Amino acid sequence: MLIAQISDTHISEPGQMTCGVAPMAENLKRCVDSINALEPLPDLVLLSGDVTDKATAAQARHAAEILAGLTMPLYVVPGNHDSRQVLAEAFGPVICPTNNRGLVNYVVEGYPLRVIAFDTLDPAGPSGRLGKSSLDWISACLKDGGEQPTLLVAHHPPLDLGVPETDQDGFVGAEALAAIVSRHPNIVRFLCGHIHLHTNTLWCGTCVTTAPSTGMQLTLDLTQKTVSRFLLSSPAYLLHVWTPGQTLTTHQIILSDLSGPFDFDG
Ligand SMILES: [Fe+2]
Repeated sequence: MLIAQISDTHISEPGQMTCGVAPMAENLKRCVDSINALEPLPDLVLLSGDVTDKATAAQARHAAEILAGLTMPLYVVPGNHDSRQVLAEAFGPVICPTNNRGLVNYVVEGYPLRVIAFDTLDPAGPSGRLGKSSLDWISACLKDGGEQPTLLVAHHPPLDLGVPETDQDGFVGAEALAAIVSRHPNIVRFLCGHIHLHTNTLWCGTCVTTAPSTGMQLTLDLTQKTVSRFLLSSPAYLLHVWTPGQTLTTHQIILSDLSGPFDFDG
């Protein structure tokens, strides 16, 4: 099974550069073309939030229009730059299902890996938030799935990753989520976005993986003294490969111009 993960696409209105400089629509089109050209094709694509830059309906429609070019199923969760209602309207109930509280919490079944997608958006600010109803729902879903290998996907990573801006944002409910995740060793990965950098960190018996943005890479300052800014980067996404031997290997695909390939004995 192959899963492509796109994140933090920060799409603006048609014809607009994001933050005045980032060609995020063009970058997303390049990612869509790259994913459609993979062999074999991914079984599905996950978009882990910050689909839009300013949560407007026009931006969400623009993103949906570009992503309609994918030739495989797409699933979306909202990030702190999104509105869950706006995303649900633009993408519809198959790509962005909502529950009876309007939260984008759903399960994708029918594949070797089960995917539990959940909504960490807090309309009050940039932090992650999981309320009691979502935490109870995640716990019940995991119980229902038994031992089946499972992926979690949400926008906010549940721990600090050494990035000042997003560490300050925090995640209300992360401790309760940690207690749930610790009880389920069949969770093979927790896929996130938010920090605009590719990282992998062990957490509660699983691995939290953050995907890169599709072109707005965060500056990395391990001294944590400077305010986060962004660099214009080549479009990038992750490709998660689930093998019959039941391991999940993650490749970062960066769409930059490379020379080659060359033979090693050349
Ligand atoms: Fe973002």
